[in-house]
Amino acid sequence: MTATRELEPTTVTAWRAPAVQADRGGMEATAALPAIDDEPAAVGGPAPPAPFASDRVLYDVIDAPLAGLGVLVAHDLGLFATLFEGPAHVEWVAASLDIAPRPARMLLNVCVAHGLVSRRGGLFALTPVAEEYFVKWGRSYAGPLLDYAIRLNRSMFSFDALKSSVLRNAPQVFDGEPWSETASPGAGKGGKRPEYPATFTDVMHAHSLGASRAWTRRIPLSGFRRFLDIGGGSGVHALAAADANPSLTAAVLEMPHVCRETRAMIETWGFEDRVAAVAGDMWEDPFPPADVHFYSDIFHDWSETRCAALAKKSFEGLPEGGLILIHEMLLSDDGTGPLAVAASSLSMLLATEGGRQYSAGEIFGMLQGAGFSDLTVTQTHGYWSVVSGRKP
Ligand SMILES: C[S@@+](CC[C@H](N)C(=O)[O-])C[C@H]1O[C@@H](n2cnc3c(N)ncnc32)[C@H](O)[C@@H]1O
Repeated sequence: MTATRELEPTTVTAWRAPAVQADRGGMEATAALPAIDDEPAAVGGPAPPAPFASDRVLYDVIDAPLAGLGVLVAHDLGLFATLFEGPAHVEWVAASLDIAPRPARMLLNVCVAHGLVSRRGGLFALTPVAEEYFVKWGRSYAGPLLDYAIRLNRSMFSFDALKSSVLRNAPQVFDGEPWSETASPGAGKGGKRPEYPATFTDVMHAHSLGASRAWTRRIPLSGFRRFLDIGGGSGVHALAAADANPSLTAAVLEMPHVCRETRAMIETWGFEDRVAAVAGDMWEDPFPPADVHFYSDIFHDWSETRCAALAKKSFEGLPEGGLILIHEMLLSDDGTGPLAVAASSLSMLLATEGGRQYSAGEIFGMLQGAGFSDLTVTQTHGYWSVVSGRKP
């Protein structure tokens, strides 16, 4: 028989953790709490009262991240390609991947939990979102991004790396070099390395492919003539903008080694007549003429001061009536969510000198400070939004 006990207020207080008496920067001190026993729950002593908060959070913190790793293992083993051939039983999936049915079922279950696989009876099948992003025939295949996430998990996403970045407020090194050298803001090297067939530009292309075709259908650019994609990587956003707006021409401002890849992508899409790659440094060089300035995943690489400087440079470079568009995964107004975006700030801590995710209000502040008006924010796709402003 299970005994139930009423939680008397006094009992709850008695089991509260010892109050921290330190100065809390003006927060109300907890010294008013009744005196409590400093000893933790005595082993063999009286039974503690029933918990009054659920312990699910412990397992959301400790075990849930393994679900993401499980999806990466599934990707690496080819589980999504196997299911693309048609719905299958666990045993079939296991045999196709050459693994035992027990781990195959576990991988399938976390894929179901993530909405990538559905289960009907004993049959597992891909969902439309998996068909779009997780199979190489999908319209927005994110394979290079998933492969990059595997690399990061091998080399960068560890407890020790994150703790050291937190303590030093500084990025990590990646394969012996600062991450920013190989992978992000001041990417000085670039180029394909034999051990990593995809470059960072390939990774960013996969990251931006779906989002680029979404925002260009939500943000009207009729009436504008020249679009400038600053730090545009493969040019995927400029290409999508040109595709959605037949009278628009576009330029992608990128560092010279990236421009080689940008030009190859422009040729692949067949847009040589309307999209150009311009080699340059967005900090040092003047911006090519344009009436729309577009930044995607650029602000989150840099500190507020640097972002404000870019906004100012755009304001000075745009004509009257010119438009600035900032495409980012935005934080909520109080900065605490969504969870994936708040976590992405930690990724920026690992990777960059001063970057983090921003809220719409923070970007409004940067644009307003530069002189822009008519500020708007449009949620465009998944976690993505576009913040816009007009030069009066
Ligand atoms: C996070 S990626 C974003 C790429 C692209 N905008 C997208 O959303 O897919 C940052 C980009 O900024 C470029 N970048 C960094 N520093 C730059 C600079 N000083 N001048 C021009 N581009 C730069 C990098 O080469 C890289 O392609």
